[in-house]
Amino acid sequence: MTTKVDYLTAKRTIDDRALDRRVWDRFVDALPDRNRDDPVRIVEVGAGVGSMISRLAAWESLPEAVSYRAVDLDSSCVTAAHERLPHWLEDAGYDVESYGEGLVASRVDGGTETHLEVTLEVADGFALDDDADAVIGAAVFDLVDLESTLARVRGLLRDGGVLYAPITFDGGTRFAPAHPLDGRIERHYHRHMDEIRDQPGSSRAGRELLEAAPKCGFDVVAAGGSDWLVHSRDGHYPDDEATVVEHVLETIEGALADYPPSILEPSTRDQWLETRRTQLDRGDLVFVAHHLDVVARV
Ligand SMILES: C[S@@+](CC[C@H](N)C(=O)[O-])C[C@H]1O[C@@H](n2cnc3c(N)ncnc32)[C@H](O)[C@@H]1O
Repeated sequence: MTTKVDYLTAKRTIDDRALDRRVWDRFVDALPDRNRDDPVRIVEVGAGVGSMISRLAAWESLPEAVSYRAVDLDSSCVTAAHERLPHWLEDAGYDVESYGEGLVASRVDGGTETHLEVTLEVADGFALDDDADAVIGAAVFDLVDLESTLARVRGLLRDGGVLYAPITFDGGTRFAPAHPLDGRIERHYHRHMDEIRDQPGSSRAGRELLEAAPKCGFDVVAAGGSDWLVHSRDGHYPDDEATVVEHVLETIEGALADYPPSILEPSTRDQWLETRRTQLDRGDLVFVAHHLDVVARV
């Protein structure tokens, strides 16, 4: 079995390729310019292992002075972020000092200093009290009730603040080579997200976010597609990307197991999964997932 921490760590290179750079630029341009006495305040909800902080640093997209509050419900993710983020920021050219709750990092480039203070917390990010310039929720808005969550995000933001919601799942889980059961498996998997699992959320969250944001007081300023594409080169998947596909297969397996045999025979499910795992082992499997990136202002 894959772990969530391994999955989130491994998906970073896939997200890096997938993110819509035009939408990314609109988000980065929307961040105000401030100094260390009054840093730009960013809250990231569902920060996972800290990939987005690290990406903002590596892509030189952080404003000059930033106070970054990274929150996740899952303590294993926050522990992993504590361990990994200092190294990732050092790789991006930052000097890093860690302390109990987080870290302070700075980088000097051609006379310009970027100063970053990060706190890492285990909490429900949508129940926080804050006054942020930006809220980030990457691959999170498909796991929540959209309208009530957007109302909470509204409460976290200053007037004029910005929400960045990249990698919001939007109803596509595709594999190649084609298998006769693909359509049925995808329908059952997505229906599980919509109607069966205990957690709220939707398999069409990307489109629903675009509809819900204006109703909740947001102005959508940019949106675009951020599809994942995982395929092998010379029979090998790059970095640790096979872990992501295996994790998705395990998630599909768990979802399908909730259907009674009258709807989906266990032998049918197992046959599809076995075929996909064999193809993954051989480097023959291609995986595509459809997402949307959204930037919206209050
Ligand atoms: C699919 S993961 C994405 C993690 C990270 N943003 C990334 O893209 O690598 C979703 C994360 O959101 C967290 N999460 C979901 N609801 C949350 C909430 N209300 N507050 C804080 N974290 C939450 C989960 O624990 C999980 O780690």
